[in-house]
Amino acid sequence: MGMWWIVAVAILAHTASAAVREYAWEVEYKFGWPDCKEGMVMAVNGQFPGPTIHALAGDTIVVHLTNKLATEGLVIHWHGIRQLGSPWADGAAGVTQCAISPGETFTYNFTVDKPGTHFYHGHYGMQRSAGLYGSLIIDVAKGKKEPLRYDGEFNLLLSDWWHEDVLSQEIGLSSRPMRWIGEAQSILVNGRGQFNCSLAAQFSNTMLPTCTFKEGDQCAPQRLHVEPNKTYRIRLASSTALASLNFAVQGHRLLVVEADGNYITPFTTDDIDIYSGETYSVLLTTDQDPSQNYYISVGVRGRKPNTPPALTVLNYVTAPSSQLPASPPPETPRWNDFDRSKNFSKKIFAAMGSPSPPETFNERLFLLNTQNLIDGFTKWAINNVSLAVPGTPYLGSVKYNLRTGFSRSSPPKDYPVDYDIMNPPRNRNTKQGNGIYVFPFNVTVDVILQNANGLNANASEIHPWHLHGHDFWVLGYGEGKFKPGIDEKTYNLKNPPLRNTVALYPYGWTALRFVTDNPGVWFFHCHIEPHLHMGMGVVFAEGLNRIGKVPDEALGCGLTKQFLMNRNNP
Ligand code: C2O
Ligand code: CU
Repeated sequence: MGMWWIVAVAILAHTASAAVREYAWEVEYKFGWPDCKEGMVMAVNGQFPGPTIHALAGDTIVVHLTNKLATEGLVIHWHGIRQLGSPWADGAAGVTQCAISPGETFTYNFTVDKPGTHFYHGHYGMQRSAGLYGSLIIDVAKGKKEPLRYDGEFNLLLSDWWHEDVLSQEIGLSSRPMRWIGEAQSILVNGRGQFNCSLAAQFSNTMLPTCTFKEGDQCAPQRLHVEPNKTYRIRLASSTALASLNFAVQGHRLLVVEADGNYITPFTTDDIDIYSGETYSVLLTTDQDPSQNYYISVGVRGRKPNTPPALTVLNYVTAPSSQLPASPPPETPRWNDFDRSKNFSKKIFAAMGSPSPPETFNERLFLLNTQNLIDGFTKWAINNVSLAVPGTPYLGSVKYNLRTGFSRSSPPKDYPVDYDIMNPPRNRNTKQGNGIYVFPFNVTVDVILQNANGLNANASEIHPWHLHGHDFWVLGYGEGKFKPGIDEKTYNLKNPPLRNTVALYPYGWTALRFVTDNPGVWFFHCHIEPHLHMGMGVVFAEGLNRIGKVPDEALGCGLTKQFLMNRNNP
């Protein structure tokens, strides 16, 4: 009896401590100097990147988002948050809601159920490329113990930046023939980078001049000030439009402890690969000469780099803050050493005590990634369908059973057995589609992503795939075409990491597994912004008869608009 009473009070105390964190945000374009050159950025309440949200596990986040853009719609996606029970708050335009019209306000309301490093970003058109992003950090609930020990923390949001404005990039991608955007001009750390100059000019053989900004300039790097002999948690998130990145701190080893908001089995490394859509936490111990400062370098991998690495400085407070490190910054590993990249991915295992996956699957999809043409327009396609998101959000169409909101025939679950992944596609043409994959509630789904050669010979790219609404287990990676009945034997079913983003390597496959326990409609797509723009995504729907209330405000467009008007004013 006495025990029960204590438990009851503890539960009450716990729910009482969960806070509601409420924000009013206005999004607009403004001029900024992300890399010392003037350009247009998307700002939240005047800030670029947007403000960091700090919350505790169990909290409720409420964001009143006002669209102050003159001529564009707007949404924000909370990347890494599963939106359990609130699929309408996921912020994917055309999938879970209508874009918010200029002048209008939409309220997101969702709980953050577990600690982790996340971020948020625009998910309409290419607004993420335009700089609409910020950090979203969830700490352990009050009264719960953080399993990691550290004395301080830093939060680094990584992105890439073009001087060509995003509207023009978008037009180029949708032109015939396509005009490719090329490589980024700069890599940004917390929205700051240096174009055409280098912090490490004295070591560079590229003839870049020394940067001359003053401290406080918008593009001056944020130095990380640390005390000797302490341990710091560095949270990394990549919101890049295109670049795969490598992060290293001169003279220091990194202990990797978290990936995509899940604790992993810690391992040490000199540098860390991070793909768009991924997040990590690393622990760094300040055990080096305290009279020196050290370069932090973020360089491009996976594509032939034409962008200098972003640099900032780890400043031991025992050394002058402005003193530059005495030796050159760490060199980014060779861009096309894919074996090195795969080896890094394969070092990631779930932490002890993490939930393990069901032993087998109920449904399985093989998703072939190809680059194709539609009437001469360049597209990306999955099983020969290039996704064109419809005008009525899927969530509304399925909730109110509007049959014409999208095509009710499912896209193919497989691709022809004789497809040659090593050469450019024999049939270069594809078609656009908006069909989705529908799953019952609570079944186990395996997805095998299969990479292939693009339109040009000897070209297969990395695609970081991101799933909304879920974490999935990464069961394995392999070379060439997946061999059913054989390759399953290589799966890691013991301690596969739970993630929401995973890399698909050139000419290889990646297998993942998830359980359809979150009623809703969920985007699954390549996190490279131009690839998504060119159709590289699919949509999953699950537990459709269990979807709860969807606020009408989410569905004021397309067929749902008329439907709601008729329903509300019969
Ligand atoms: Cu961060 Cu749908 O993506
Ligand atoms: Cu891609």
